[in-house]
Amino acid sequence: MRFPTAITLLLGTIGRAAPSHFHKQPLLDLGAERTGPIPPSQDPWYTAPSGFESTAPGTILRMRSDPSNITKVASKCSSAYNILYRSTNAAYQPSWAVTTLLISSIADELNGTQPRSKLLSYQIPYNTANVDQSPSYTLSLEKVDNSQGGATSPLVDINNMLDRGWAVNVPDHEGPLAAFVAGPREGYAVLDSVRAVLSSERIPGGVNGTSYAMWGYSGGSIASMFAAELQAPYAPELTFAGMAVGGLVTNLTETYDLKNASPWAYLFPNMLLGVTAEFPAARQYLVSQLKVEGPYNATGFQAVLNLNTSDAQATYATQNISDYFVSGRAILDAPELSPVLGNNAYVGYHGIPQMPVFSYKAIHDDFATIQASDQVLERFCAVGANVMNQRNTVGDHISEISNGQPRALKWLDSALSGTLVQERTVFGCKTEDVTVNTTQGNA
Ligand SMILES: *[C@@H]1O[C@H](CO)[C@@H](O)[C@H](O)[C@H]1NC(C)=O
Ligand SMILES: *[C@@H]1O[C@H](CO)[C@@H](O)[C@H](O)[C@H]1NC(C)=O
Ligand SMILES: *[C@@H]1O[C@H](CO)[C@@H](O)[C@H](O)[C@H]1NC(C)=O
Ligand SMILES: *[C@@H]1O[C@H](CO)[C@@H](O)[C@H](O)[C@H]1NC(C)=O
Ligand SMILES: *[C@@H]1O[C@H](CO)[C@@H](O)[C@H](O)[C@H]1NC(C)=O
Ligand SMILES: *[C@@H]1O[C@H](CO)[C@@H](O)[C@H](O)[C@H]1NC(C)=O
Ligand SMILES: *[C@@H]1O[C@H](CO)[C@@H](O)[C@H](O)[C@H]1NC(C)=O
Ligand SMILES: *[C@@H]1O[C@H](CO)[C@@H](O)[C@H](O)[C@H]1NC(C)=O
Repeated sequence: MRFPTAITLLLGTIGRAAPSHFHKQPLLDLGAERTGPIPPSQDPWYTAPSGFESTAPGTILRMRSDPSNITKVASKCSSAYNILYRSTNAAYQPSWAVTTLLISSIADELNGTQPRSKLLSYQIPYNTANVDQSPSYTLSLEKVDNSQGGATSPLVDINNMLDRGWAVNVPDHEGPLAAFVAGPREGYAVLDSVRAVLSSERIPGGVNGTSYAMWGYSGGSIASMFAAELQAPYAPELTFAGMAVGGLVTNLTETYDLKNASPWAYLFPNMLLGVTAEFPAARQYLVSQLKVEGPYNATGFQAVLNLNTSDAQATYATQNISDYFVSGRAILDAPELSPVLGNNAYVGYHGIPQMPVFSYKAIHDDFATIQASDQVLERFCAVGANVMNQRNTVGDHISEISNGQPRALKWLDSALSGTLVQERTVFGCKTEDVTVNTTQGNA
């Protein structure tokens, strides 16, 4: 861990590197505030200025006040910004992404009185190949009491964080092509969003006076875990205080076999189109393998690109997604796709998390087996990662969203406050089975 000296804390911005010319662009807030939020596919703000490729990853390319009413929708949110920043795509080419930075009104009150600002990068599982479902656009439309099969709205978590005085970073980690489950793209987007918000001068502590951590559940666990795996080689200057991941999804194929033909089948057209979004040849091959006639055809499959989550859920519920392909389930093993799936859709192959990790998962997780995540975590631990692997005897993937939430927040609170005591075990993970059902009030 790097701790700033008292001098750097006091001197704050003095000696800060000159911001790039992109950074000096004015906040484009007035027009945006008048018009309100526009879907990303139609909003010209969602484009990178020419020449962005030559900037360093994490460079702010555009920034504006969030045009939505998110500061009214979220509690204790004094201001919110959209930041468009340089990042890297799944094909390792220069690209960009957008993040939303929410500033807590409590943090404003604490300005200067707490030793370090706190920032949580919160990866929402938006689970879609439709860019118009990106959180920067949909967040203000969320309903706090929205419950889908017991899942709580991301706004509940965000409000909990703002209530604690944390700044909250919500990256559109799938990027401008909504590359769902393209792990490296998601990880880079998270890391670069943290770089961007730390340099945005919107968080009092700035780069050196802020503690920051990550949190993600399910689809958000993929983005968070890839960020943790890629941090050391890609963003070595970042020092995360910790990462909490829930319902860790490690293996797209496994999840496909567990949840195909279920009410959650909509995930798979999204996954297959998302993972190929930044690989034109693989996308073209995927589409070429779709049937052209019958009830399960190319048109119906690709329609998901324009559906919101509730419509997608209803459209594909209980469908056998293999039926869309000429070769059926064998599409997942096609040599034309396997390099793309292999490098993008499996957690645990790109690096070792350098920060303390809190993993929480139901032993009976029905989207991704506990055995698969245990294996990945054990492998990390065998080479010195610091992991608390907490397994809940109660419930499944959906119930653990709310059952795990208080444990995750508590752990993140101690990580950000610098009071985390989590001893590293040299061989194997520290594993703990718990029995938690928050519905019974025994959290
Ligand atoms: C943060 O700390 C590093 C290392 O001490 C220093 O090189 C850098 O200039 C500091 N950055 C800012 C913005 O103060
Ligand atoms: C925020 O705006 C949305 C429409 O964009 C509207 O449905 C909602 O009621 C507004 N919420 C508040 C608290 O203003
Ligand atoms: C924090 O206080 C400093 C001066 O003490 C001020 O310049 C800065 O704008 C404040 N930041 C916020 C986010 O209120
Ligand atoms: C992913 O899960 C499938 C089962 O659907 C299994 O055959 C395969 O070995 C797993 N892959 C990895 C990399 O763990
Ligand atoms: C393709 O599937 C849709 C339903 O998703 C159906 O309405 C349409 O008729 C099908 N097209 C063909 C050519 O069979
Ligand atoms: C999803 O889209 C449909 C049709 O475009 C619309 O009626 C519905 O309100 C949308 N649902 C949400 C949650 O945005
Ligand atoms: C989907 O269809 C294939 C071939 O028709 C079949 O082998 C497979 O068992 C089906 N999967 C599910 C989950 O029903
Ligand atoms: C948690 O407890 C409630 C109340 O007793 C019960 O209805 C529910 O099924 C339990 N949840 C799980 C996941 O076991």
